Amino acid sequence: MKFTILIVDDEKNIRSGLAKALELDGYDVLTAEDGMTGWNLINNKHVDAVIADLKMPRLSGEELLKRISSAYPTLPVIILTGHGTIESAVAAMRDGAFDFVTKPVNLDRLSLLIRRALSNRELYLEHAALKEEMELLKKKQKFGRIVGRSNRMKQVMDVVEQVANTKASVLITGESGVGKELIADALHDLSSRSKHPYVKVHCAALSESLLESELFGHEKGSFTGAASRKRGRFELADKGTIFLDEIGEINAQVQIKILRVLQERNFERVGGENSVSVDVRIVSATNRDLKEEISSGRFREDLFYRLNVVHVHVPALRERKEDIPLLTTAFLKEFSEENGKQIQGISHRASSLLYNYSWPGNIRELRNCIESAVVLCRTDVIEIEDLPVAIRQGNDDEQILVPLGSSLEEAQKKIIQATLNYCKGNKSRTAEVLEIGRKTLHRKLQDYSLD
Ligand SMILES: Nc1ncnc2c1ncn2[C@@H]1O[C@H](COP(=O)(O)OP(=O)(O)OP(=O)(O)O)[C@@H](O)[C@H]1O
Ligand SMILES: [Mg+2]
Repeated sequence: MKFTILIVDDEKNIRSGLAKALELDGYDVLTAEDGMTGWNLINNKHVDAVIADLKMPRLSGEELLKRISSAYPTLPVIILTGHGTIESAVAAMRDGAFDFVTKPVNLDRLSLLIRRALSNRELYLEHAALKEEMELLKKKQKFGRIVGRSNRMKQVMDVVEQVANTKASVLITGESGVGKELIADALHDLSSRSKHPYVKVHCAALSESLLESELFGHEKGSFTGAASRKRGRFELADKGTIFLDEIGEINAQVQIKILRVLQERNFERVGGENSVSVDVRIVSATNRDLKEEISSGRFREDLFYRLNVVHVHVPALRERKEDIPLLTTAFLKEFSEENGKQIQGISHRASSLLYNYSWPGNIRELRNCIESAVVLCRTDVIEIEDLPVAIRQGNDDEQILVPLGSSLEEAQKKIIQATLNYCKGNKSRTAEVLEIGRKTLHRKLQDYSLD
C-alpha cells in the first residue's frame, strides 16, 4: 500500500526539504503553499496524512485542522510549529491533531510519527473494509447473526439453507461455543415453520424425572405435585420446531419416547392413556461423540439414525481461523455500541495474537474476550494490554513473558527456550540473537536441561 502525504507550509524550503525526505521514505507527496490550497487538495485527491504549518496565509493551520477533524476525522494531521509557539501546538492537539513537530524539523522523529499515524490509519481502513464486508454478507445471506466467510462455514450455511425448509431431522454437532444454537435458530427462521412456535429444550438443565414431563406433559395427579394437566414442549411446538439441546444427556426412557414421536408422530402425556399427535420438526445438538455413547450403550442407535437424517458439523474456530478477523470486527461493533465507546479497530499485534490463539472455548471465548477488551480499552484502538492474560500468554511469538517473582535463572531459561523456538531449533542463530557464544549456549542448554 503506497500512502500519499500532503505537506502544507508557506515556506518553500520546508516544503521541498520535507517532500524530498518523504519521497525517499517511499511515500507519494503532495504540497500546498497555503491552507486553502491544501484544503482543496484534500477534497479532490486521495490523501492519507497531512503535515501542516500553523501560521499560513488564506487559511491558517488551526482552521485547516478544524475542517479536517470535522469532515475527515480519521485523516491524521501532524502540526509543524516554530519555537515559542508550543502552546498553539498543544491547542492543536486538543483540536484533534495527531501530534506536532517543532522546527527545525527532526526528520527521524517526523518519519516515526508518520509511520505511527499511518499504521493507525491502515487499521482504521481495514476495520472499515471488514465492516463493509460484514454488511454485505448480512445482506447476501439470510441469517444475519451468523458471521463467517471461511469455506468451512460457507459449506455449513449452504447445507442449512438447503434443508431448512424440509422436515428432515437435523443433528448439529461441534465443540462447545462453536455456534450450534445459532445454526438451530437459522434452521427454524429460514423454514416455512417460522411463523409457528420454536421451542428450545436444554436437556442437560432438567433432572431426569422432570425432563419427561417437560417434553411430553402430564395428566393431573400423575405424580406428586402434578396438580393439573400440563402440556409438554412437544405439544407447544406443534407445527413448528423443537430444538433439543445437549441431546446426549437424555435417559433411556425419554429416548424411546422421542423415537416414537419420530416414527409415529405421537406420544402419551405422563400418566395419560390418550395418544397426542403432533407435527414437529426436530433439531438436536450435542458436543458429545454420540457414536461413542452408542457403543457404550448409553444412546440408542435407532434414535441416533432418526435424529441424524441430516448432519451439520460446525467446525472449531481453530479450524477456520479466516473467520477470526470478521468475527472480531462484528463483536467490536456490537460491544462498542453497547458500551457507548468509539473503538476504531484493533492493533496489528493484538490482532495477530487473536489469530494465533487456539480458542478452546471457540466463538463464545472470542466474544467474551472482545467484550472485556472493549470495556478495558482506554484509547480507541484495542491493544495487546487490553486482552485477557490467557490469550497474551497463550501465544505471543514476539514477546517473552517472565512472571514477577521469577529467579534470574528461570528468566534466562525462558528467554533461551523462546529464542530457540523462534529460531526453529537452530543453535547458531539462537546464539547470535542472544549475542553469546555457541559454547556458552551449549553449556546453558545443558545446565537448564533444555533442548
Ligand atoms: N458464526 C457466528 N457469528 C456470530 N456469533 C456467533 C457465531 N457462532 C457463535 N456465535 C456466538 O457465540 C456464542 C456461543 O454460541 P452458541 O451458544 O450457539 O454455541 P454452542 O455451540 O451452542 O455451544 P454449547 O455447546 O456450549 O452450547 C453465542 O453468543 C453466539 O451468539
Ligand atoms: Mg448451545
